[in-house]
Amino acid sequence: MPVVFDRVSFAYHTPADQRKAKKGLVARIRERRTEVAGADSDAPQSEDPRATGQERTRPAWGVSAHDEWALRDVSFTLADGEFLGLAGHTGSGKSTLIQHMNGLLSPTEGRVTVDGRDLADKAAARDCRGFVGVVFQYPERQLFAETVLDDVAFGPKNLGLSDAEARERAEEALRSVDLRPEDIGGKSPFALSGGMQRRAALAGVIAMHPRVLVLDEPAAGLDPQAREELLRLIARLHASGMSVLMASHNMDDLARLCDRVMVLNRGRILMEGPPAVVFSQGDRLRAIGLDAPFAQNMAVRLRSRGLSVSDRLHSIQSLADELADLHRQAQRHESARSGEGAGDTAHA
Ligand SMILES: Nc1ncnc2c1ncn2[C@@H]1O[C@H](COP(=O)(O)OP(=O)(O)OP(=O)(O)O)[C@@H](O)[C@H]1O
Ligand SMILES: [Mg+2]
Repeated sequence: MPVVFDRVSFAYHTPADQRKAKKGLVARIRERRTEVAGADSDAPQSEDPRATGQERTRPAWGVSAHDEWALRDVSFTLADGEFLGLAGHTGSGKSTLIQHMNGLLSPTEGRVTVDGRDLADKAAARDCRGFVGVVFQYPERQLFAETVLDDVAFGPKNLGLSDAEARERAEEALRSVDLRPEDIGGKSPFALSGGMQRRAALAGVIAMHPRVLVLDEPAAGLDPQAREELLRLIARLHASGMSVLMASHNMDDLARLCDRVMVLNRGRILMEGPPAVVFSQGDRLRAIGLDAPFAQNMAVRLRSRGLSVSDRLHSIQSLADELADLHRQAQRHESARSGEGAGDTAHA
């Protein structure tokens, strides 16, 4: 069930939105300016700016900072079984992209297909919600039912399953996130710890039996132990056959878990490839305000202090290997020098 983005661009405020938002003088002035900008767009200088290499950050009808493209010309495929990471500075478009994965948002230009079906088709978008499970940021804020079991069974019931079937799915989903339905199923979701609430919310998505799991900053705000548990869980769900798209601010998590990483910058794909390739380019990441993985930062610091480690490291393992090599070299050098020293003494 591949998910394909084909030259997707998206702006939150289209001219239609602006008309809807027509309230008071400011809106009327903006609308007038939009018309003027629209008239200008017939002028030769406002032809497709991509052709002249002078791409604007705003759509042709955009007049203010609020009209900027949140996504611009985004094309990629999430292949079956793949674990794709999504990195990018605040406001780069990660959450906007994620909401296109199951048709919650529709492209202003371009298209998104799931298993070949265009999500612009309402029936396709509805069907795809059964296969593409989206876990939004802080999903525990959407827990609402009186008991954990009712909350997790809510989705399956909406799929039309009987109470007994929905309950069975909910129990299975809770176990898959390491929560025991017999212990916590009857409790209020709000009685659980933060980490457990997050996992219960994830169970609500898993109970729908998605084949594609989409996660927006799944570990944000959790304590170190809860985040480790959650990330291990996500790796396990991926190993069980789900394709995963995960947005994260944590480059180390992405470097560790993903098959491939995409870096968004101001709505565009800036870099894309295996973590070893993307994360070894610390300078490019830092240039757009992103942090590089720990190993990459450490390598840069060590180089600045005169150690000749590679500046293209991205994993703790590769850093450890290089340091071990350096250590061996230093030992050889040292023993050669002390050998020479011993020789000098003998001569004297
Ligand atoms: N509901 C909205 N209405 C208008 N503009 C929005 C809305 N949501 C996001 N934007 C704008 O769209 C752009 C992309 O935002 P988005 O939330 O997708 O980024 P993000 O990469 O998820 O950021 P973060 O890392 O902070 O979660 C930003 O310029 C943001 O201000
Ligand atoms: Mg976001």
